[in-house]
Amino acid sequence: MKERVDLTVQVGPIVLKNPVMVASGTFGYGREMADLVPLEQLGAVVVKGISSKPRPGNHPPRIVEATAGLINSIGLENVGVEMFIRDKLPYLRKRNVPTIVNIFGESPEEYVEVASALSEVDGILALEVNISCPNVRSGGICFGASAEMAAQVVRAVKDSTHLPVIAKLSPQVTSIAQIAKAVEGGGADIISCINTIPAMAADIYTRKPRLGNVFGGLSGPAIKPIALKSVFDVVREVSVPVIGIGGIATAEDALEFLLVGARAVQVGTVNFANPMASIEIIEGIKNFCEQQNISRIEDYIGTLQLPTL
Ligand SMILES: Cc1cc2nc3c(=O)[nH]c(=O)nc-3n(C[C@H](O)[C@H](O)[C@H](O)COP(=O)(O)O)c2cc1C
Repeated sequence: MKERVDLTVQVGPIVLKNPVMVASGTFGYGREMADLVPLEQLGAVVVKGISSKPRPGNHPPRIVEATAGLINSIGLENVGVEMFIRDKLPYLRKRNVPTIVNIFGESPEEYVEVASALSEVDGILALEVNISCPNVRSGGICFGASAEMAAQVVRAVKDSTHLPVIAKLSPQVTSIAQIAKAVEGGGADIISCINTIPAMAADIYTRKPRLGNVFGGLSGPAIKPIALKSVFDVVREVSVPVIGIGGIATAEDALEFLLVGARAVQVGTVNFANPMASIEIIEGIKNFCEQQNISRIEDYIGTLQLPTL
């Protein structure tokens, strides 16, 4: 049967069957969610950030609720690249799930080590380079904050892999457009934004921070308007495609990002409350297109009409 609406999107060098992916760190390595979500229906799964060696992450508590969001200080816990390739990737490959691997490191050399190892195996659609993590005290934290270092690390990854490179930007900068321009110059094929926003919470009775790490990163609906503005700014600055991330919980949220010019979106925090959210978002986008007589989602992307000011 022919699909009612064509949701296919071209995102630079990659083609997705629909523009909805799940965001890194909110969907494990995919398999954990397989009993709850039909993985092959997703545009792509972006797996938890991978480093060269396994990492235990930060002290608990590592997640607290905030108004309309979460603050997390997971601290990039992961199994390391070797175990990821051996124990996690084969399942996604067997099920034919479009898989994007999020990577990070504490030096350009570590990024290169992880990227090189992942480039030697089949079943990976692209690498997403996390140049920003407010939860880690050392290393990678700095890359995303400086245009020069951001470009440097993206260039190092790009030179070490044949896979498409997605640079994932932090909102904690003076000008996200400037960083976007720099990573485009560093060879990024695609830009994704935004990562979490630095945040904290304190218990007024115990007089202690509510996170073991004191600080964390805010995500969820609370950050959506900030993320939307970031995407808007980046889309206008660069010519590579942009993936929108931040507080997307409904089809309307996703459509808002597509409207301002994101060619795809990632769905994060809402997965914890409703693992089926991304599937419902895909269906909701399809329904919207039908109601609006849009036969291809590509025709809707970037059609925001701005007032003449
Ligand atoms: C618990 C948790 C873990 C995360 N881990 C990662 C990670 O490993 N790498 C990364 O680039 N982003 C990570 N993120 C950031 C998300 O991928 C996403 O950029 C951010 O949460 C904003 O989207 P959202 O509001 O839809 O969650 C994590 C977010 C959460 C909530």
